[in-house]
Amino acid sequence: MEQVMAQPSVLSQHLWWQHGVIYQIYPRSFQDSNGDGVGDLQGIIKRLDYLQWLGVDCVWLSPIFSSPMADFGYDISDYQGIHPLFGTMDDFDQLLDEVHNRGMKLLLDLVPNHTSDQHPWFLESKSSRDNPKRDWYIWHDGKKDGGLPNNWLSVFGGHAWEWDDTTQQYYYHAFLKEQPDLNWRNPEVQAAMMDVMRFWLDKGIDGFRVDVMWHMVKDAQLRDNPPFPGSTYDANDLIYDHYTPVYSTDQPEVHDIVRMMRAVTDEYDERVLIGEIYLPIHKLVTYYGQDNKGAHLPFNFQLLTLPWDAPQIAMAIDEYEGALPADGWPNWVLGNHDKPRISSRVGRAQAKVAALMLLTLRGTPTIYYGDEIGMRDVPIPMNEIVDPQGLNMPDLNVSRDPARTPMQWSSDINAGFSNHKPWLRLPFNSGRVNVDKQKEDEYSKLSFYRKLIQLRKKHAALNIGTYRPVYADPQLISYIRERGDEKFLIILNLSHRPAYFKPRQESFTGTILLGTEVERIGMVVEDIITLGGDEGLLVQLSNSK
Ligand code: GLC
Repeated sequence: MEQVMAQPSVLSQHLWWQHGVIYQIYPRSFQDSNGDGVGDLQGIIKRLDYLQWLGVDCVWLSPIFSSPMADFGYDISDYQGIHPLFGTMDDFDQLLDEVHNRGMKLLLDLVPNHTSDQHPWFLESKSSRDNPKRDWYIWHDGKKDGGLPNNWLSVFGGHAWEWDDTTQQYYYHAFLKEQPDLNWRNPEVQAAMMDVMRFWLDKGIDGFRVDVMWHMVKDAQLRDNPPFPGSTYDANDLIYDHYTPVYSTDQPEVHDIVRMMRAVTDEYDERVLIGEIYLPIHKLVTYYGQDNKGAHLPFNFQLLTLPWDAPQIAMAIDEYEGALPADGWPNWVLGNHDKPRISSRVGRAQAKVAALMLLTLRGTPTIYYGDEIGMRDVPIPMNEIVDPQGLNMPDLNVSRDPARTPMQWSSDINAGFSNHKPWLRLPFNSGRVNVDKQKEDEYSKLSFYRKLIQLRKKHAALNIGTYRPVYADPQLISYIRERGDEKFLIILNLSHRPAYFKPRQESFTGTILLGTEVERIGMVVEDIITLGGDEGLLVQLSNSK
């Protein structure tokens, strides 16, 4: 029977950050406007029409603040200043307006765990033991025998304690020694950072992605971290991953801080608080906080960290869905500026399958710039490496530069990114793999992404609908998204070989709405569905039994 009553828009019952798509920009690499080979705010403004055309709802910028750039902006020396490389505060205000004028949202990176060692707070703190800001950072005597306070290591390799000659104590830095950790047990630090948040929220930004949220509070007794079970541990081994950071991260008190940040966020209308958290699912979900008063979206990195293996991924999705607190909103991430790009990790052939997964799982998706055209990690010769993680651990091949290369816009010089030599090199094939080329090609990754984003917008079932797993085997995973009388079946073949979708309990009939192979669109499928290698299908179901 036809529905006659007016229905309120289903999307309007959800907040923008629940049904929208987030797009991460690494500002150094998006678009240069002033010919210095580094991307900037005016460059981003120039490209907003592209983002609108692509259909994303929200842009998150990695740090654009004043910084000596020891960690490319994640070492902040003024939380309320814009680095001149990126532009001025006027440029920022213009960017915010232009984003809002297009109906999109803007998120900034908040880096509260540590400052730059050039931040005035730290300069004061290290000036003398009785400076009022001494306790803003984590200072400690060495052990009686002169040894380090404990065995904690820096994520970027080496010890996490740095000796200060002037005041004869060590300070703690989870990352570079140029990034001293703030002491979040100090209420003055808490108040100062809440002020930083209010400064940007007052300007009208739509929320924050909070850097290394799970690092913010450390064990009060500074106990040694145990070696990672099974790691080839020896006492001289200074590799972070060889220890389990049970005392240096994820302390119970961190949740009070997150709650505090959320309370500030909630002083404003519909702003969002996202947390960067690399933890197993059962711990990750605790960051939603008691009564969901923690982070709105603790970033879910399962798809970034798990092997690309159908049973493992199927299990992780179900575990995540099962572990979410009531009213905890899910989210999914396929790539970011710290990890290898999806096209390099799972291979070009699987890139569309991965996109289909990202954009049809239940929850807010975050797209990393350039993934929509299938950008791959660019091989950076050793003598061109600039990422401190890569430079500090040269034998481990862990530089993040390859995933941070300039956006490939066109076949023009430097791929249309800059008229000057870019700060990181482009791949040799950027004349072929770029936005302009892919815009015109209906078979391209970009066309696929755009179509998928449009379908998400059109069909509420695809973004806010329920999720139900249907069937997984060693090659494929499948699930149903449903809302009202709309029902979609998504089948993803994570292998390169043909596969059969043959659920035991049910059978389905429907029409292919979108597939990794354009030719399959519009085909009717039923019962056992045969998929090609690297194929993914989005099927609009007409019935189910
Ligand atoms: C986060 C950032 C990373 C940075 C680190 C230290 O993990 O994403 O890029 O190096 O924090 O701030």
